[in-house]
Amino acid sequence: MISDKMSALLNEQMNREFFNSKLYLSMATYFYSINLDGFARWMEQQAIEETGHAMRLYKHIQERGARILVGAVTAPPTEWKSPLAAFEDAYKHECKVSKEFDELVAKAQAAKDNATLNFLQWFVAEQVEEEASVDAIVQKLKMAGNSVGALMILDQKLGIRGK
Ligand code: FEO
Repeated sequence: MISDKMSALLNEQMNREFFNSKLYLSMATYFYSINLDGFARWMEQQAIEETGHAMRLYKHIQERGARILVGAVTAPPTEWKSPLAAFEDAYKHECKVSKEFDELVAKAQAAKDNATLNFLQWFVAEQVEEEASVDAIVQKLKMAGNSVGALMILDQKLGIRGK
C-alpha cells in the first residue's frame, strides 16, 4: 500500500510530465513557425514520449491502489529567440526533471517504499538518455552557428525521428 504522501508526490510528477509534453509541443509549433519542420517533428516525438512518462506514473498510481488526480497544466512558453535558445531551454528543463526524480528517489528511500523506488529506477535511467540526446543537439546547433546549410542538414536528420 502506498502512503498518501507518496501518491501525492507521484501525482505531482505525473502532472509535471503532462506539462513537459505541452512544453515540447509548443516548441514544435515554434519550429514550424520558422520553417524548420524536421526540428518540429523531433519535438512532436518528444512530446509523445513525455505523455508516455505521465502515463507510466498514472498506471503506477492506479496499480498501487491510490487515486489519480489529473490537474491543470500551465501554459508553456510559445516563443524562443533561436533554435539554439529553444534546445538550451529543453536541456535546462531536462536537468530540472532529473533533479525532480532524484528528490522522489530520496523521499521513497526515506519512506522505505521499495515498490516506488523500484518503479522510479526506469525514470532515473531515462533521464540520462533525455539529457544526453538534447545536449547532443545543443552542441550540433552551436557548431552550426550561422550556417543555414548546416541548419538544413540538421533539420533533415532530426525529422527522421519517429519515422
Ligand atoms: Fe519526462 Fe523529459 O522528462
